[in-house]
Amino acid sequence: MKTDPIYIFRKTWATYQKVISNNLMFHKEILTAVKKLLESRLEPINVLDLGCGDATHIGKVLNPGQVAEYCGCDLSPYALDVARNNLEPFGIRVNLLCRDMVAVLKEAPENHFDVVYFGYALPPVDQ
Ligand SMILES: C[S@@+](CC[C@H](N)C(=O)[O-])C[C@H]1O[C@@H](n2cnc3c(N)ncnc32)[C@H](O)[C@@H]1O
Repeated sequence: MKTDPIYIFRKTWATYQKVISNNLMFHKEILTAVKKLLESRLEPINVLDLGCGDATHIGKVLNPGQVAEYCGCDLSPYALDVARNNLEPFGIRVNLLCRDMVAVLKEAPENHFDVVYFGYALPPVDQ
């Protein structure tokens, strides 16, 4: 559906989860690199995750002792509910926004986020 930019994710989230759990899009390799990057920062960091989905994988590399704030945004309220459950046990400050990532990025306070993660969430070019 052209009018709904995340139609495919609304309809097929379970399929996407299977893709991820079988590492068909190389999330393991990507997140190994992200973990290394995060660990190279010694001070507490604020992370912005654009199009975070259910945050299943990034949640596994966020170190509660290091991440001061994790802000994830996604247009799918369903994915954000799952993300909330996934991130709760980590005890980090979590802010989940059901909003368009472009708007969130534009309105992000200057110099607030140290790391902006953007995993497979490119919006359509005509947006
Ligand atoms: C392929 S999934 C990626 C999820 C996660 N970042 C990952 O690496 O597995 C793309 C996600 O981007 C979200 N998305 C697509 N367009 C968006 C937009 N304009 N604003 C916010 N989220 C968006 C979808 O709802 C979906 O959860």
